[in-house]
Amino acid sequence: MVTIVPAPSSQSVAAALAATGVGTLATPTYEWFTDDEILLSVPDFDDERAIVVGSTATSDAHVELLQLQDAVREAGARDVTTVIPYLGYARQDQAFKAGQPVSVRAVAKAISTGTDRVIVVNPHEPGVTDFFTVPTEPVSATAALADPLDGLTEPLFVAPDEGATPLATTTRDAYGSGTVDYFEKERDYDTGAVEHTPSDAPVEGRDVVVVDDIIATGGTMSSAIEVLTDRGAARVYALCVHPVLAGAARTKLAAAGVERIIGTDTIEQPISDVSVAPAIADAIGR
Ligand code: R5P
Repeated sequence: MVTIVPAPSSQSVAAALAATGVGTLATPTYEWFTDDEILLSVPDFDDERAIVVGSTATSDAHVELLQLQDAVREAGARDVTTVIPYLGYARQDQAFKAGQPVSVRAVAKAISTGTDRVIVVNPHEPGVTDFFTVPTEPVSATAALADPLDGLTEPLFVAPDEGATPLATTTRDAYGSGTVDYFEKERDYDTGAVEHTPSDAPVEGRDVVVVDDIIATGGTMSSAIEVLTDRGAARVYALCVHPVLAGAARTKLAAAGVERIIGTDTIEQPISDVSVAPAIADAIGR
């Protein structure tokens, strides 16, 4: 057997993983010091094999994951798998301006020191796995995003930029019908503003499903939804693997006219209606 150790950021997905039969759950304890430092411990961990599960959407979450990796080693684990449902900092996968770090390389190196193997769900670019220094496997949970969809009218699956087209195609294939298209996207890297150039696909009266890997500020998704709504789409669904939903993202999507937002539990949000646990369980079993 193996013991699953959940970081604070990933309690639901860890519980769902345990429910697949992969392992049993340990219950870490949390303490905070006056200076805001955190201390995560695993007093009930007693195993030689551990699966540490932690999304790293915040800087604190990175430290929490490193602490749990270290705690299970300290408690005697010989074999540690680290599951990262959402890998933060993955969009800084190159130095875009002079003097910038490759942030994801820095965090990948740190995470690699405490584990024998890494599983990452839908990393922003599959190539980021090369920054880890232990065997690292990307897992796709995209197909499961189609599970809550039902009864769509002439569905069109749209990627908000060309790079997300495989996600739209996978979701369409899982749904079972519909066409696929993508928007041209220009982002101003100083202001963050996004401009979409609509594709020629007819959308009037059709249900449109926009699929992306991440909804962070909601700028990309709300811009796409506005274009589609203006062009007469019937209902517009916003699907993403990683619902970061920072700041006013949900309000932006609502104001743009979204019918429903569907995300997974890589980040625990009220719209996390899909679990990535089965995809992780498959990868662990391979
Ligand atoms: C970009 O390449 C990603 O796939 C997402 O489109 C982007 O990260 C979403 O960010 P935001 O919600 O802030 O526009």
